[in-house]
Amino acid sequence: MPFTSNQDFKSAPRLLTRAEGHYYWSEDGRRLYDSFSGLWTSGLGHRHPKIVEAIKAQLDELDYAMAFQAGHPKAFELAERLAALAPDGFTHVFFCNSGSEAADTALKIALAYHQARGESERGRFVGRARGYHGVNFGGMSVGGIAANRAAFSASLLSGVDHLPHTLNQSENAFSKGLPKWGRHLADDLERICAQQGAESIAAVIIEPVPGSTGVLPPPEGYLQRIREICSAYGILLIFDEVINAFGRLGAAFASERFAVVPDIITTAKGLTNGVIPMGAAIVTEQIHDAIVNGPPHAVELFHGYTYSGHPVAAAAALATLTAYKEESAFEEARSLEPVFEEAIHALKGRRHVIDIRNAGLMGAVELAPSPVGPGARGLAAHKSCFWEEDIVIRSGGDILQFSPFLNSKPDDIYATFEKVGRVLDRME
Ligand SMILES: Cc1ncc(COP(=O)(O)O)c(C=O)c1O
Repeated sequence: MPFTSNQDFKSAPRLLTRAEGHYYWSEDGRRLYDSFSGLWTSGLGHRHPKIVEAIKAQLDELDYAMAFQAGHPKAFELAERLAALAPDGFTHVFFCNSGSEAADTALKIALAYHQARGESERGRFVGRARGYHGVNFGGMSVGGIAANRAAFSASLLSGVDHLPHTLNQSENAFSKGLPKWGRHLADDLERICAQQGAESIAAVIIEPVPGSTGVLPPPEGYLQRIREICSAYGILLIFDEVINAFGRLGAAFASERFAVVPDIITTAKGLTNGVIPMGAAIVTEQIHDAIVNGPPHAVELFHGYTYSGHPVAAAAALATLTAYKEESAFEEARSLEPVFEEAIHALKGRRHVIDIRNAGLMGAVELAPSPVGPGARGLAAHKSCFWEEDIVIRSGGDILQFSPFLNSKPDDIYATFEKVGRVLDRME
């Protein structure tokens, strides 16, 4: 089981056998409300009819197309649609199968870009404490989750520095939306540039709003400051929008929401509404043109996956993008933000709650760890919600995480937090 306490899970497996709209059904026949939209994936709801239909039609037409040296039209159509959704200047897309692959693809593109421009000394990366960029060696190295790195630390990438994370509960606990305090934490990038030599740094990679480590909204002005420093030193800025994109922050991309434009955007989850694996790195014309250069017969980027731009995933993604537009999903998500903010912050003062954070439709309720050990209380809350309150929530350590559907009913959002409150009241 990925990122799961296997022994605990096997003692009482939580098995989901069917899903529709905003609900799952469990193996024991109960209907459970999904407060996490899959795993931040399925903002439009489960088994969206138009996405399901598109996949079925694709399978009747073309199951797979050789991905190296050949292609198929839907991958190109999807690349154009994605580039059109992305900020101005983004023109090209490299497809992969997950957020982890998107992160490693972006890091490699950053290195290839600098090399193509004759700056191959730019080989270092800067990530951030509590950043999550998946589990492959590149993403793990720039990531900043101690537990994810611990067993593998002997062989992580060298040449990586980490910015400090922006969570400060003594200054910002229970902030609603973006905290006011903390912009200056971006200045640490200046320190890293001075220490390592800015000319040795290829890229900075951050999630605009880190999700997996418990929703850490950026302090006001922080992302702008990171952008300024990167631009000043010719360092590429990669926004990992695997969670943030596609309405989670009330816009197609976090970069649009925060009006800060990076050089590369990675994405995955919401790209197909979670229906089928797909990830992507979206790049600017400048990056594309620097790399896609040289003799016409030559391979320009020695990178790719057998399933890059897989036809079934491409069909699912095209249908997903159409559904986002037809259903005004990003606008609807944005209009739900005040409801979500009010409902989640209503847990302030409840038992064990030490902080509540929200940005867009991303939210976290942090619990004090129990004497049993870190993570025990979070897992207990997840299990009580599942077995006793018929809702699926995620816990990461002792942080309960929430990712409501973009088209949630307000009453369901309020009911979610009433149920979570009841669980907390009952818990040791
Ligand atoms: C920001 C971010 N990047 C990368 C990943 C890795 O994605 P995947 O699990 O699809 O490999 C995740 C997964 O949660 C993520 O949140």
